[in-house]
Amino acid sequence: MYNRTRRLRKSLGIRRLVQETKLSTDDFIFPLFIEEGENIESEIPSMPGIKRYSLDTISKELDELIKLNIHAVLLFGIPSEKDDEGTETWNDKGIIQQAIRFIKKNYPTLYVISDVCFCEYTSHGHCGIIHKNDVDNDATLANIAKQVISHARAGVDMVAPSGMMDGTIQVIRKALDNQGFVSLPIMAYSVKYASAFYGPFRDAADSTPTFGDRETYQMNPANRDEGLREAKIDDSEGADILMVKPALSYLDIIRDLRNNFDKPIACYNVSGEYAMVKAAAKKGWIDGEKVMLESLLSMKRAGADIIITYFAKEVAYILNKQS
Ligand code: PBG
Repeated sequence: MYNRTRRLRKSLGIRRLVQETKLSTDDFIFPLFIEEGENIESEIPSMPGIKRYSLDTISKELDELIKLNIHAVLLFGIPSEKDDEGTETWNDKGIIQQAIRFIKKNYPTLYVISDVCFCEYTSHGHCGIIHKNDVDNDATLANIAKQVISHARAGVDMVAPSGMMDGTIQVIRKALDNQGFVSLPIMAYSVKYASAFYGPFRDAADSTPTFGDRETYQMNPANRDEGLREAKIDDSEGADILMVKPALSYLDIIRDLRNNFDKPIACYNVSGEYAMVKAAAKKGWIDGEKVMLESLLSMKRAGADIIITYFAKEVAYILNKQS
């Protein structure tokens, strides 16, 4: 037989040589939940291994990340006070702003990214200002600018707006440039679906909407072409990195973005994807470690340069052992 594809699978030596995709700790961003208060280190039941920390307990987590060669974190704040507009998001002394200052001062090599949204900070749990039972897009934009500038003043390295309001990237870019933050990049949650895979996160971040859902601003999971339209807009408004979220059910979208844009592509391996692997592994129904590695590999194979994942530390343990 002239063509035998099995020749290149015969031994580990050749399989290593022809392997197309590889995972690296350089590609991971680890999400952190930081809660206002003291002495907090609470387990999140639906996300085994992931915890909420206060600033006085978070150092051991950060030390571990450094030791493991994980260089980037994505911050989510859980404030003690919520209100209608989420005004805490632009309080220069707010929990995220404090966290940014703390990490940049004590762990200057960590790359600090802030999630820019309102749902953890509003009493109703929606991602902006409510008007007539829906999120008011343009009123919310003004608050997004205030939030981003406050993060920038605290010293954040990159901002990641996740609220899916139209015009977000343009408003953020303009605000940052006007205030002199011309070199601060934006990672846009460009193609973010209204997904049931966010369930555990909403427990973790106390951000479940008290009424309705997010279907008037997050995308319909049935739509693929619309994903390209969203990404095109963010690209033209000046996003530096384009993100797809969730990851595993949306590998086709990741590939679409890879094929259509010459900017780095990120994906968010979300809480529900993490929880399913953990739960099935605990039952002994799957090999959790192998499924984790295969899932992350498939995201890179689909075209993601960057993976935001709660698995970052576990994978790093494995990758560091291998190298
Ligand atoms: C905030 C936000 C959410 C996630 C990241 N940023 C929740 C949501 O949109 O409801 C989800 C992350 C995850 O599930 O791991 N807008």
